[in-house]
Amino acid sequence: MLTIILMATKTLTLVLSLALSTLVATAADKGDKKVDLSKIDISKLPAPAAKTGVTYAADIRPIFEKSCFKCHGPEKQKGKLRLDSLPAVLKGGEDGQILTPGKSAESLMVIAVARLGDEDDAMPPADKGEPLTKEQVALIRAWIDQGAK
Ligand code: HEC
Repeated sequence: MLTIILMATKTLTLVLSLALSTLVATAADKGDKKVDLSKIDISKLPAPAAKTGVTYAADIRPIFEKSCFKCHGPEKQKGKLRLDSLPAVLKGGEDGQILTPGKSAESLMVIAVARLGDEDDAMPPADKGEPLTKEQVALIRAWIDQGAK
């Protein structure tokens, strides 16, 4: 009798863990790379810039051109990501979208340029270019919060 109970428990555990791993795999397959906000102290982000009417064309493209096109432009598309047009930015890279319009603090783009996440996610990568200034991060936040137009 005891053996049967033990076997049943084992089978149940196996079935449960299989079901759980399928669930986790499905979530990971959904595409968009979500920032794990529980690991990030977003209070360290510079506040969004006060400027209104921030646009990709006028304000953001010049920042990307200087610091990002080298790896995310016409010649190279690291992480399958291009930043040289607004549609390309909104489309995102190999892990899906990199920003959520209206929610700058939850956007991978902002966490990356503010260098608050994993070291691997900091952009530009360490020793591969000057980090963006607080003012530039603040402007990118304002742009995303205003709808990423
Ligand atoms: C020297 C090359 C280089 C420069 C410059 C650079 N990046 Fe990257 N970027 C990479 C590489 C390599 C990856 C892929 C990392 C990976 O797959 O783990 C990447 C990935 C990314 C991702 C994640 C894409 C995804 O879907 O996972 C974002 C967002 C990003 N870069 C933003 C930027 C921004 C914004 C700039 C400029 C401020 C920038 N990068 C400058 C090399 C660069």
